[in-house]
Amino acid sequence: MLTPFKEIVEDAYSRHYAVGAFNCLSLENVLGAVDAAEQLHSPLILQLAEVQFPYAPMELMAPVFLKAAKAAKVPVAVHLDHGQSVETCIKAIKAGFNSVMYDGASLPFEKNVYESGLVARLAHACGVDVEAELGKVGDTGFGSGETGVSADVFTDVAEAVRFVEETEVDALAVAIGNKHGRYTSTPHLNINRLREINSAVPVPLVLHGGSGTGDDDFKACIRSGISKINVATAIQMAVTSEIESYIALSGMHDYITMKKHILTASGNAVAAHMELFESAGKA
Ligand code: 13P
Repeated sequence: MLTPFKEIVEDAYSRHYAVGAFNCLSLENVLGAVDAAEQLHSPLILQLAEVQFPYAPMELMAPVFLKAAKAAKVPVAVHLDHGQSVETCIKAIKAGFNSVMYDGASLPFEKNVYESGLVARLAHACGVDVEAELGKVGDTGFGSGETGVSADVFTDVAEAVRFVEETEVDALAVAIGNKHGRYTSTPHLNINRLREINSAVPVPLVLHGGSGTGDDDFKACIRSGISKINVATAIQMAVTSEIESYIALSGMHDYITMKKHILTASGNAVAAHMELFESAGKA
């Protein structure tokens, strides 16, 4: 059932698990994710990032996400990931997304507060929940190109307090050494900084760049306020490797069978993360 983002994330926050937010770029990704959620009785967030619109246009994906969410037997939120402008967030709200992320992390602090607060006021007036980001998550090609990041990109605790107070966002994405994309080695997240942010800030926290994080760090995160974990690359890698084996092993490949493989690989990747995030059995 289509369920408010805030309801899903706050349940995770109060019961100390994390809900997986999976970037879905195709019908197979959506069907696989919903199937995994239903099998495991887990809540789910279906999301699409603005950088993914060229491959999965928002206006076409929104009805697919919404119909799948409404038909699902478990709570599902439909979320815009990394909205890059206020205008994109408004378009997503008009398309029916029940939560939006405005990503002002690369802006100076005051500008990020202003823009994120504006999105929160507009979205809340429409009954839509909001996530924003403070600190620089970056991607695995970011900075030195190494897995480690310098402390000046981490979310600052005092800034996080002011940011949440002034913007009134419903969830805050933090930078604690996490990055988007394929890590070259397992990252070591700054769990101490996460704990400090969690004790100071009253809203659920979000971990971006979930793919490739070690199990221990995942567990430490969900014990320290992380209530939503974003996963994109792991699904894409699972699907790609499944297609590679299908093509290598099958003498006669056909498109419909390939679609079935994509659906199954997407579902398996989502299910594995749901188990890890301890959201299985929570719906
Ligand atoms: P990964 O691609 O590293 O899983 O990151 C996903 C993400 O954070 C989307 O916002």
